[in-house]
Amino acid sequence: MKKIIFATGNQDKMGEIRSILSDWDMELQSMKEAGIELDIVEDGTSFEKNACIKASAVAAQVQEEGIVVLADDSGLEIDYLNKEPGIYSARYLGEDTPYSVKNQKILERMEGVPKQERTARFVCAIAAADINGEICVIRGTIEGYIGWEPSGANGFGYDPIFYLDEYGCSTAELSEEKKNELSHRGKALRAMRQKLEELSL
Ligand code: IMP
Repeated sequence: MKKIIFATGNQDKMGEIRSILSDWDMELQSMKEAGIELDIVEDGTSFEKNACIKASAVAAQVQEEGIVVLADDSGLEIDYLNKEPGIYSARYLGEDTPYSVKNQKILERMEGVPKQERTARFVCAIAAADINGEICVIRGTIEGYIGWEPSGANGFGYDPIFYLDEYGCSTAELSEEKKNELSHRGKALRAMRQKLEELSL
């Protein structure tokens, strides 16, 4: 394998991915850097399916052997809300709605709900595909709960309302290094790296 293209247009995610894989001696390009422009319809019914749809669609644009396309699909599952927003996390209340509004809405919907029923998790599925098709898909998760107010300025998206019991703070209050060590994306990416190394791709 000579290069990895990561199928995302999300700059926040791309930053986290680069940082998580920074000790890997591998060229890592975003879709834009690879000159691939694609509007992919994520119409799968699971994180895994959406990740596979994205990885395969981008891999179909690649002409050379030796290039692996990775794609992730991630989101927040809140048990009390029947796992909402789930695969619709980015689209919840509209793609362009600020996260301050989305987070506030979730806090309102969770009003009066006791701590033991506020359990939630971030999920990340990462799929790999190459010129010959799909290779594998891996899931990483981090368990936590929805707090009572937003806190912290690091991270992105739902981080300010997602709290970790063992740290007593939200993931938006963690340093970038700590979040990457614990996060769904960190776990899934490190597992994917190991898998690709084992397959000697
Ligand atoms: P995707 O780009 O379709 O995978 O959508 C992922 C969405 O899930 C993001 O836009 C966020 O709303 C949410 N999300 C995923 N990972 C995180 C995270 O690490 N922190 C906060 N929100 C996240």
